[in-house]
Amino acid sequence: MQDQSKKLLDKAVQAYENAYAPYSKYKVGAAVLWDSGRMTTGSNVENASYGLTVCAERNAIFQGTALGERKIRAIAIAVPDEHMPTPCGSCRQVLREFSTDCAVLLINGKGENRQTSLQALLPESFGPEFLK
Ligand code: THU
Repeated sequence: MQDQSKKLLDKAVQAYENAYAPYSKYKVGAAVLWDSGRMTTGSNVENASYGLTVCAERNAIFQGTALGERKIRAIAIAVPDEHMPTPCGSCRQVLREFSTDCAVLLINGKGENRQTSLQALLPESFGPEFLK
């Protein structure tokens, strides 16, 4: 998945350009690779009523679900910041809704990147099959 990983990371990097983060100034971009091969992207969108902020990861995921996608193969998360990004707890749980163990690719503003997995980030997780 080397070429596809690169493409997904590039899309996540492009996505943070459109982040709307006037309050935190912390821009995040995300790109999701679905089972169909489709990629969707999102960036964080903040609000003057701070609690209404939506993370880049969830915006990228919900763009895919609106198109009928249901199975996530990988997500890339990018920040211009020097520190490596990591998805917040809420986004980990939303990822879990559409994957038991997807690849999670991370890239910072220095171009450093690494790969982890949803299993590693959210062990012993609760998911949709518990309700079947
Ligand atoms: N943020 C994300 O978009 N994704 C994360 O995984 C962590 C946090 C955003 C939310 C808010 O706009 C800003 O980063 C600071 O919390």
